[in-house]
Amino acid sequence: MKPIQEIIKSRPWVAWLLFFATVIIVFFIGLFASSIVERRSEAFTLQVVKPIAEWEPRNEVWGENYPREYETYLQTLDTTFASKYAGSVTRDYLEMSPELVIMWAGYPFSKDYKTPRGHAYAVKDIRLTLRTGGNKISPMPATCWTCKSTDVPRVMARDGVAEFYKGKWIDKGHEFVNPIGCQDCHDPKTMDLRITRPALIEAFQRLGKDIKSFTHNEMRSLVCAQCHVEYYFKGEGKYLTFPWDKGFSADAMEKYYDELEFSDWTHALSKAPMLKAQHPDYELYMTGVHADRGVSCADCHMPYKTEGGVKFTDHHIQSPLNNVENSCQVCHREKTQKLIQNVNERQDKINELRKLAEKSLAAAHIEAKIAWDNGATESEMKNALKLIRHAQWRWDWVAAANGMGFHSPVEALRVLGTAIQKAEEARKEIALILVKHGVKYPVALPDISTKEKAQKYIGLNMKELEDDKNDFLKTTVVEWDKKAKERQGTLKSY
Ligand code: HEC
Ligand code: HEC
Ligand code: HEC
Ligand code: HEC
Repeated sequence: MKPIQEIIKSRPWVAWLLFFATVIIVFFIGLFASSIVERRSEAFTLQVVKPIAEWEPRNEVWGENYPREYETYLQTLDTTFASKYAGSVTRDYLEMSPELVIMWAGYPFSKDYKTPRGHAYAVKDIRLTLRTGGNKISPMPATCWTCKSTDVPRVMARDGVAEFYKGKWIDKGHEFVNPIGCQDCHDPKTMDLRITRPALIEAFQRLGKDIKSFTHNEMRSLVCAQCHVEYYFKGEGKYLTFPWDKGFSADAMEKYYDELEFSDWTHALSKAPMLKAQHPDYELYMTGVHADRGVSCADCHMPYKTEGGVKFTDHHIQSPLNNVENSCQVCHREKTQKLIQNVNERQDKINELRKLAEKSLAAAHIEAKIAWDNGATESEMKNALKLIRHAQWRWDWVAAANGMGFHSPVEALRVLGTAIQKAEEARKEIALILVKHGVKYPVALPDISTKEKAQKYIGLNMKELEDDKNDFLKTTVVEWDKKAKERQGTLKSY
């Protein structure tokens, strides 16, 4: 046979024939490849045995379509894992650090504050905590429901966002019975990740960022940032707002609150205008090396899992220390024990400074009270109270963030360092005021060595609170569940 070049020389149309034949073959290969990709996503949507209605709150209904994700989600009900500082077991913060009772005098956190557990407990736990009170004393606004239930997007769509936040927590409990789940993070039609909490969208809007502009990888953290963030209740309507306008750091948010002259409460002992940090997990994480390297919350808390040859996202959101193999060892080569040790040694250091800050702050509040009792004036106390406000905010910014600072150890230590410095500066000023008013310094501090003693010192009647809670659980909560069952037909108990 003649070489191809010679054939083309004598009959040029052969070259054109070859050219078009190639174009047609490439076109069909392309079509074939794209049909494979489409089939794959078809196979995924085909799993939908029953279409899920928009705003369907019941996790078990979603679970009919996605059994693996649902079954692993249900594992958040397991409460057996304890790491050195976290895990799903319940620990009582107030028992571990009775100083906290003093630091929150006049605020519901002094009544009850425990470690978190899995998402499936969210509704149960907000009903159980003494902070939400009972039938007689019920101090919480409706806004508190926002990060607890898949019913939130449903009620917001029905009533409007501002209306949702208005009113009392206790008046709306029949609406919120399904704990945090599928609806909170997914679009039921496409299963794409989506943001259902307007406060996050609005916070980015004020910073000039459209929530739709974030990458898929960023969304794997932002679905968590709907709830695991610092926030406050703005104005009379208790409108849920993230204080990010000046930046994400403890210092920037402190400035934001100062300019608004916002305070969560006035301290019962020191009379300082206080701030309560919520759980700035996302903000603290953003300052760490993992965020810097693009590691998302889901990478560590929702790693991939393989079962029967199928790879899927593990929805057992928990401490990664219970699952180091999937959570860490995809990137780190070190042994499990070594990685846990790396985490613990960072947490130990943070805990050391945290405890120092707590001792200083509890003393500062009590000493301030003694100063008031001995005739200190507002102008004398003003600066010391501001220092207490800032010190406690900074302590709380680290303490309230989950994971004992692991998400960004260096920043956690810096913020705690400034907390201690400010608390001690406040104590120095108060000491001078005490001496000026004829009080001998140092003053004797009360015995607050246990939670019970500290609660008695600040005048809490725990028996009354507990009785009120038990009454509420036996009456109001039963009514809530009855109404909810009538509305949705079924009601799963968690
Ligand atoms: C590099 C991995 C990693 C990333 C990324 C990460 N975390 Fe964590 N997280 C951890 C570790 C480790 C702990 C500490 C667990 C322990 O002490 O048992 C933790 C603890 C927590 C806890 C407390 C767990 C418990 O058992 O009480 C929460 C809540 C949490 N992280 C939320 C988040 C959120 C939200 C994000 C994203 C903004 C995030 N984490 C990003 C590794 C990570
Ligand atoms: C706190 C947020 C959150 C909740 C709650 C949640 N998911 Fe997911 N889900 C994710 C993330 C993050 C991914 C990974 C998505 C990605 O990277 O594309 C995911 C992935 C999925 C996928 C895609 C397949 C896979 O396994 O990767 C399905 C299906 C799914 N989830 C179903 C569910 C169901 C069913 C529920 C309720 C039982 C649920 N999810 C609850 C965050 C959540
Ligand atoms: C709708 C609000 C909401 C969203 C969204 C959310 N969380 Fe949570 N998360 C909570 C609440 C509330 C708790 C505490 C529940 C309790 O103690 O009853 C919690 C608890 C946790 C815990 C502690 C579990 C344990 O066993 O101690 C971890 C870890 C956690 N969340 C991580 C995440 C991650 C990672 C994401 C994103 C993929 C996320 N959360 C999304 C509200 C939310
Ligand atoms: C997706 C990849 C990835 C995952 C998952 C991951 N890491 Fe990392 N980790 C990194 C990278 C990248 C660095 C930065 C150091 C570097 O670039 O070599 C880092 C740094 C660290 C450091 C040192 C920095 C510091 O904060 O002090 C520790 C400790 C660490 N990781 C522990 C863990 C643990 C524990 C887990 C699981 C809970 C985990 N990592 C999960 C990628 C990852």
